[in-house]
Amino acid sequence: MARLLVTGGAGFLGVNFVRHVLAVTDHRITVLDKLTYSGNRVSLEGLPESRLTFVEGDIVDALLVDALVQDADAVVHFAAETHNDHALAEPAPFVRANLVGTFTLLEAVRAHGVRFHQVSTDEVYGDLALDSPDRFHEGDAFSPSSPYSATKAGADLLVHAWVRSYGLRATVSHCSNSYGPYQHVEKFIPRQITQVLRGDRPRVYGSGEQVRDWIHAEDHSSAVLAILERGTPGETYLIGANGERSNLEVVKLILELMGQPQDAFDHVADRPGHDARYAIDSTKLRTELGWEPVHRDFEAGLAATIAWYRENEDWWAPAKDATEAFYAARGQ
Ligand code: NAD
Ligand code: DAU
Repeated sequence: MARLLVTGGAGFLGVNFVRHVLAVTDHRITVLDKLTYSGNRVSLEGLPESRLTFVEGDIVDALLVDALVQDADAVVHFAAETHNDHALAEPAPFVRANLVGTFTLLEAVRAHGVRFHQVSTDEVYGDLALDSPDRFHEGDAFSPSSPYSATKAGADLLVHAWVRSYGLRATVSHCSNSYGPYQHVEKFIPRQITQVLRGDRPRVYGSGEQVRDWIHAEDHSSAVLAILERGTPGETYLIGANGERSNLEVVKLILELMGQPQDAFDHVADRPGHDARYAIDSTKLRTELGWEPVHRDFEAGLAATIAWYRENEDWWAPAKDATEAFYAARGQ
């Protein structure tokens, strides 16, 4: 697999994956990214031009996608509309990018017999009760609760159908909440860090008792690469690092690490249909592919992430005002 086409490679997880692959392999990468509000060309600066080509374009553009897929040995599909609060406000772009975009890619990889990896989310499985010990597993039924997760589940179902009907060589991964550098300030951890950096208070939706299963973006990248290199076509793999924490725990830890009182945050309007808890059982990935996370200390990973946002205000500041204006209009 010398030539990878990475869709959404200017977004948070795509950038981290591109950087990881360039560092640990000799693969060449073409990034296809529309540069929506969440894509940032700056995130790819400084990488070797001899091994990285950037194409600004839309995954719904069938002619462009076909031409790029033709030259690739494998496609790693990150591109998507990804933010739940945007999906609640305006779901149409999610249907277009996540469903029609994935369909467009599938038709191209089918035509050219190219290996495909679908980057998906644990949210397709719905949510778990706060007081249960249950975790998500590969065989669980899809039960998405939000407009975003419904479009991701629909896209994943297209992939499974293309595997069964056309013999596509495709894998799917479902990951839990990721954190690390280059994440848009709309997401929970960067939003709270940049609130504190600007002298504002973090904002917690509703009670804050909801639980997310945090994994560092670099661990997500190594997991996707392991699946691409050693995964079995047709199979699904869950990616997680045993990182369950409530939103309250995370915001208090951010405040502590940033030298603020632990109660220096506000409770704001809850997210409609807010999923209670996600938790991943990644036994299959660990036992079958020998993958293990490197970032096992969440507090250390969070401290490094805070340091990154502190040192890279030029990267995040241009998006902060528009992001906060969106939230303010929703009482969040
Ligand atoms: P992101 O919003 O940071 O980046 C998405 C990227 O896709 C952006 O660069 C954007 O410009 C690009 N894009 C959007 N629509 C496009 C289109 N029509 N054509 C081409 N490019 C387009 O998202 P992320 O957090 O990096 O998520 C990447 C993938 O990982 C998504 O598929 C998401 O569902 C999945 N995922 C994310 C997480 C997480 O915690 N961030 C967890 C599990 C799965
Ligand atoms: O589980 C994987 C998913 O994780 C990915 O598929 C999504 O693309 C990604 O956005 C993320 O979804 P969440 O909705 O869980 O992430 P978000 O960062 O939006 O919110 C995390 C939790 O924090 C959630 O319970 C809502 C809450 N929250 C969020 C924001 C932005 C707050 O309490 N305050 C906030 O300001």
